[in-house]
Amino acid sequence: MKTLKLIFLSSLGRKYVMAISGALLFLFVIGHMLGNLQIFLGKDFLNAYAHFLKATPELLWPARIGLLVLAILHIVTAVQLAIENRRARPLAYDGTKIYAASFAAQAILFSGLVVLAFIVYHLLHFTFGKIQPEALTYTVMYKGEPIHDVYKMMVMGFSNPWISAIYLICMGLLCLHLSHGVSSLFQSLGWKTNAYRNAIDKFAKISALIIFLGNCAIPVAILLGLVK
Ligand code: HEM
Repeated sequence: MKTLKLIFLSSLGRKYVMAISGALLFLFVIGHMLGNLQIFLGKDFLNAYAHFLKATPELLWPARIGLLVLAILHIVTAVQLAIENRRARPLAYDGTKIYAASFAAQAILFSGLVVLAFIVYHLLHFTFGKIQPEALTYTVMYKGEPIHDVYKMMVMGFSNPWISAIYLICMGLLCLHLSHGVSSLFQSLGWKTNAYRNAIDKFAKISALIIFLGNCAIPVAILLGLVK
């Protein structure tokens, strides 16, 4: 308890919490993308995978609770650190900032808030069925029993150009968020030494781009009629 208090009361501790929670959320985003890309392997692959996740509560619930805790820790520490940084930021005599940050760095809080709004929208869409209520009613036969047809849910969802546009814009902002966030998590952990600086920055940008392309490939392929 005392150690937890020490972690959250120090700025360094909060940086570690934000970095580690961010790293784990980043791994989730990659895993989730790889899972979803099975749509390109066909209906049976994707539905069997989605059914496996849903039918394995000992995997599903710890993952759901873990994700929720990570997201809360990441958001709370990010907001605390943003407030601290704003207070401590050095200004020139005329009140302007005296150092230049990249566009992704300047937009990190904004892009993070958009990603948060996206997650709420995404859960309302695919998990709670509030955007297209019929989406949760699609079923398909699997090993002699009806299971949720996640493949059809995705195809019907992304056939709507407005829904696809929302996803594409949000994936752009997720990519922007990761291109700075992944690099700065290494900084917070003290691993971004001069020897690795360029490699880490490149890794952050390339992985963000791969996530953008991988996630966008799904709505784009559906809109183009390549997946139906
Ligand atoms: C085009 C990109 C994406 C597609 C096609 C997609 C697809 C899906 C689908 C189909 C589900 C519901 C699974 C089911 O009920 O069987 C789901 C759940 C979820 N997605 Fe995504 N997703 C995408 C991007 C993302 C991103 C970028 C994030 C996070 C930043 C994310 C976070 C989640 C979460 C947290 C859940 C809830 C999992 C649960 O039910 O516990 N997704 N996604």
